[in-house]
Amino acid sequence: MTGDKKARRIAVISGKGGVGKTVITANLAAALAASGQRVLVLDADLGLANLDIILGLDPKHTLQDIFRGDCRTEDALIRTAKGFDLLPAGSGLQENTVLSRNLADGLEALLAELDERYDIMLFDAGAGMGDVVLFFATLAHQILVVVTPEPTSLMDAYATIKVLRQLYERDRFLLVVNQANPERPHETGTSVARHLQGVISKFIDESKPPFVNLELIGSLPRDPAIPRSVRNRQLLLDAQPPPASAPFVSTIADSLRTRMT
Ligand SMILES: Nc1ncnc2c1ncn2[C@@H]1O[C@H](COP(=O)(O)OP(=O)(O)OP(=O)(O)O)[C@@H](O)[C@H]1O
Ligand SMILES: [Mg+2]
Repeated sequence: MTGDKKARRIAVISGKGGVGKTVITANLAAALAASGQRVLVLDADLGLANLDIILGLDPKHTLQDIFRGDCRTEDALIRTAKGFDLLPAGSGLQENTVLSRNLADGLEALLAELDERYDIMLFDAGAGMGDVVLFFATLAHQILVVVTPEPTSLMDAYATIKVLRQLYERDRFLLVVNQANPERPHETGTSVARHLQGVISKFIDESKPPFVNLELIGSLPRDPAIPRSVRNRQLLLDAQPPPASAPFVSTIADSLRTRMT
């Protein structure tokens, strides 16, 4: 315990689905825990939660059980073998897929209860920009946007950033470019970030400050070891032979850590 120091909350969002939010969140959590951070991952994809599947876990209780009053927070928290904690959510449940006063109050109370136990909380949001996704973004100190080089992913990321800027006054976003060209991942990252920044500057910022600050914190190359690790329900750090993409996760974790103050 470090007294009244509260966790930095980071929401991982994307707009478009299937771009790698869950894989990145799980692997980032392991890398951050390995560097000595106390990490909680909250499955914020209420209704279609799947972090537990990626992590090879079989939760007895979920976030929804806590909100229903069926279990205590402690009963739902899982300490993973990689040294970070997971608060799993249920899948196939329609409850809490739409933001209600109860859900909003429940989440705020839950985070306040857990705030001092962790250095970092990662929220693995669902796809889209529904009100639950946007609420998790507003609860977070930092918003990490995952995009791929596909124009559909860029468009959806742009749309989500626009809503968060215009309706919620969020003007700082961290960016991870996934599915980068494995031959030149850094170049892919830089060019995707420049493109997205260009669209933001042209259509969101116009001439009214504060301007949106989009900061590229890393790229993850396209790597067949990643779907393999998902199928094997293991993290990249544990995969053998060590995947080419694993060091990129560590670099993103380091970049994130330096931006947490
Ligand atoms: N860098 C990569 N290289 C190859 N495959 C990848 C890469 N990143 C993610 N994938 C694959 O993409 C699939 C989707 O990833 P993931 O489930 O993390 O996306 P998501 O953004 O969380 O999706 P959703 O929006 O449905 O929650 C995974 O099954 C994974 O195997
Ligand atoms: Mg996901």
